[in-house]
Amino acid sequence: MTTNRKVLMLPGDGIGPEVMHEVSRVIKWMNDNCGTAFDIQEGLCGGAAYDAHGTSLTNETLTEAMASDAILFGSVGGPKWDNVPREERPEAGLLRLRKEMDLFANLRPATVLDALADASTLKKEVVSGLDIMIVRELTAGVYFGEPRGTDTLPDGTRRGFDTEVYTQTEIERVARVSFELARKRSNKVHSVEKANVMESGVFWREVITALHAAEYSDVDLLHMYADNCAMQLVRNPKQFDVIVTNNLFGDVLSDCAAMLTGSLGMLPSASLGAPGPNGQRKALYEPVHGSAPDIAGQRLANPSAMVLSYAMMLRYSFDMCEEAELVEQAVQNVLASGLRTADIKQERTAPVSTDVIGDALLSELSKLTG
Ligand code: IPM
Ligand code: MN
Repeated sequence: MTTNRKVLMLPGDGIGPEVMHEVSRVIKWMNDNCGTAFDIQEGLCGGAAYDAHGTSLTNETLTEAMASDAILFGSVGGPKWDNVPREERPEAGLLRLRKEMDLFANLRPATVLDALADASTLKKEVVSGLDIMIVRELTAGVYFGEPRGTDTLPDGTRRGFDTEVYTQTEIERVARVSFELARKRSNKVHSVEKANVMESGVFWREVITALHAAEYSDVDLLHMYADNCAMQLVRNPKQFDVIVTNNLFGDVLSDCAAMLTGSLGMLPSASLGAPGPNGQRKALYEPVHGSAPDIAGQRLANPSAMVLSYAMMLRYSFDMCEEAELVEQAVQNVLASGLRTADIKQERTAPVSTDVIGDALLSELSKLTG
């Protein structure tokens, strides 16, 4: 039986296309061997779309994105587009996708796989067994708040400004996702803001506290200032289970959390919208790492984060948990076998290329299902 699971692939720029290529191979293998029946379309986003169409996201691609069951996204940006007008910058294409699809909850798990506990710059005992989930609000806050811009003051000097703004609804919906996730994990949520300085931070804390009391009092809720959270993430990361925070703090704290695991090259993410009439959420899956223009095109990139993003898609968009675990296990086995790209390589072993990891993934998948 074939089902129609429509997935739009947007490989983007830099290492995006290389890591996406390895995912395509995994998807094809699973279509052939596990009956996953994904129907894949490809499109352009970011600098690649700008070069072809003069805009980082065309309306046609956005329409296709809206009609898909899920999106697999690579990465966008690079110095090549430094002088492109702001509204057309590669990053603008990604931000528009997030906003128009209303992908408000960005799940960024940071887990330390056993095989990689040595790859972290922190002591092994601090990070081994780590499993935290950062839930970053993704469609509001200073990324989108108005007014924003630059202007000239009466004395002739200029200024630049952005606006941090959150509505009750925007805070509640991302908090709900966090509390529900915590219930399936270790039942603890840290809500992170700067209520000591920002009005929007005071409001964030108020809204979360009220929602918690009304609907989620079975979950442990703790409040933490963002600067303290950055410090605690490197001091004692295992105190965290779920962290919920705004768009900007989430951007910064998730890069920090990513490095606990050894490399940005390992971390996937899921960006989820509200459930539609059929219960399915709009969703986009992308690695936390960027386009890494310095190593693009050299087959040096680690495809794991992209492959693990595909595993998140299996789990969150299609409820295919067994298949997701299969992919995650294959990634772990490849690492355990000692094959490493340069970002996580061990002393005395030579790094391998992107496609060698891809080959190894396919053979692990065969072994695990054979
Ligand atoms: C991320 C990235 C993006 C962001 C950029 C590329 C716009 O850093 O997804 O973390 O700041 O959200
Ligand atoms: Mn970022």
